[in-house]
Amino acid sequence: MKPQNIAVFASGSGSNAENITTYLRSIPDAPARVDIIICNKADAGVFARAERLGIDAIHLSKSQINDPDTLLPILEARGIDMIVLAGFLLMVPDYLIERYGSRRIINIHPALLPKFGGRGMYGHHVHEAVVEAGEKESGITIHCVSSVCDGGEIICQAHTPLLPSDGPADVEAKVRKLEGQYFPKVVAIVAADLAEG
Ligand code: GRF
Repeated sequence: MKPQNIAVFASGSGSNAENITTYLRSIPDAPARVDIIICNKADAGVFARAERLGIDAIHLSKSQINDPDTLLPILEARGIDMIVLAGFLLMVPDYLIERYGSRRIINIHPALLPKFGGRGMYGHHVHEAVVEAGEKESGITIHCVSSVCDGGEIICQAHTPLLPSDGPADVEAKVRKLEGQYFPKVVAIVAADLAEG
């Protein structure tokens, strides 16, 4: 089994990128490894984490990410097999979906899709909308990436109950806990599946 070489795409603090990296490093015969982190925000916290973890991290602007002649050679030179979106706030360009296929690009969304998904539904906006709607639960959705925002095939969902007194920050804390518990393991399962062909 050839371990899958992962590029993590991030835009923020990088806690998911770190959790995935450390989890994959901790399991024997890991089906994947994080090779590089690509981030569209030059000042994002993920760069400090990458340095601490000893992982290459590069900043690419939105237009560089949307340019196949810039991004594809980077991914190809590093032999990237799989892309994991971990708090990545841009739409994945169509050429990348064509090159890798929907199964090889996965995303985590901090709510239970199809609720609270789509354009504008990211970060704190999601948790605010969940509270405003008076939801009794929230959770995470890990899904394949298609050209429809938050619309690809769902791989896994995990739920967490909410209290009437929970505000957006409480919801976020509960959701982040689930992200840490599930995302690294689901990445490993998907990678093992891809590695077996
Ligand atoms: C996570 O909640 C992720 O689900 C969301 O953005 C946040 C990113 O956090 N889409 P981090 O950058 O991984 O810490």
